[in-house]
Formats: sequence, structure tokens, C-alpha cells
Amino acid sequence: MLGAKEAGNQTEIIFIRDKKINYCVACDGCKRNGGSCVQKDDMAEVLEKMIAADVIVMATPVYFYTMDAQMKTLIDRTYSRYTEISSKEIYFIVTAANSRKQAMERTIEGFRGFTSCLSGAKEKGIVYGTGAWNKGDIKGLPAMKQAYEMGKNV
Ligand SMILES: Cc1cc2nc3c(=O)[nH]c(=O)nc-3n(C[C@H](O)[C@H](O)[C@H](O)COP(=O)(O)O)c2cc1C
Repeated sequence: MLGAKEAGNQTEIIFIRDKKINYCVACDGCKRNGGSCVQKDDMAEVLEKMIAADVIVMATPVYFYTMDAQMKTLIDRTYSRYTEISSKEIYFIVTAANSRKQAMERTIEGFRGFTSCLSGAKEKGIVYGTGAWNKGDIKGLPAMKQAYEMGKNV
């Protein structure tokens, strides 16, 4: 993020934990009313930003060898307008206590399940934040520098 900003890009971090995003309940209300979800929460604003962005960076900790529930909930709620999230450059950032990259494959495949549904999405990079167990651990790890460099080259 810092790297991307320093390179002159307009950036914004959205912390999903600060947002109220309910589950998709598959009511298909959005399909009947032109793509507007019947649930009135913070997802409409997040979706607008995803649709407007050139680049989307998706970040999650590994929870039981897949993405966290907050991220999955957000992905499911793109259902109403995911066809409009087109031609994006996509990056993934994943952290885990485990020190092996392979421990993140299922999480990354989960992300790809989503991005494979987006038209014209190009996967551009992955940051593997391995060996990050406790809060702050990541600061001393190579993933921080990698994320910075990746950001600079966006
Ligand atoms: C509910 C839960 C499940 C977790 N499952 C795993 C796991 O399956 N494998 C692993 O390596 N780390 C696991 N962890 C550790 C987190 O991945 C690690 O604490 C996290 O990457 C730290 O990043 P954060 O500070 O962004 O939350 C788990 C942590 C929690 C709270």
C-alpha cells in the first residue's frame, strides 16, 4: 500500500472488520431489481469501490487453511454486481502462522475461485506472509518488504 502510494497511485485500504457486511442469503432479489442487494449495509459502498478500482488487493489471514470468514462473506456479497468488477489487476496477501508457502495454497485457490468469475481479471502477484503467528510478527518478516516492492511496481 505504501509502495503503491509512493509510486503516485491513489490508494485506499478497507478493513472489512470495520464494515457491517451481512451474509448473502441467495434470495436473488438483486437479480429481480437490476443488481441492487436488498440488504442495506456497508456492502454497497465497498462494491462501488471494487467496481471503480483499477487494482484490487485481497488480504486475509489463514484460518483453518482457508480464508477468514469476513473475506468470504464479502466475496459472496459481490454476487449482486460481480459482473461489473471487470478488467482488474489482482494481488493477494496471505498471512499464516505456518512457515511453509504450501500451507497457503488452499487459501489462494479460494481467492482464485472468486477471481476466475471476474471478466478480464489478471492475477499480478502474491505476498506469502508465512511465519506470522502473533500481532506484529509480520513486521520483521520479508513479506513486508515484498509487499512494499510489489506496491511500487503496480
Ligand atoms: C481462527 C484461527 C485459525 C487459524 N488457523 C490457522 C491455520 O490453519 N494455519 C496457520 O498457519 N495459522 C492459522 N492461524 C494463525 C493465523 O493465520 C495468524 O495468526 C495470522 O496470519 C496473523 O495475521 P493477522 O495478524 O493479520 O490476523 C489461525 C488463527 C486463528 C485466529
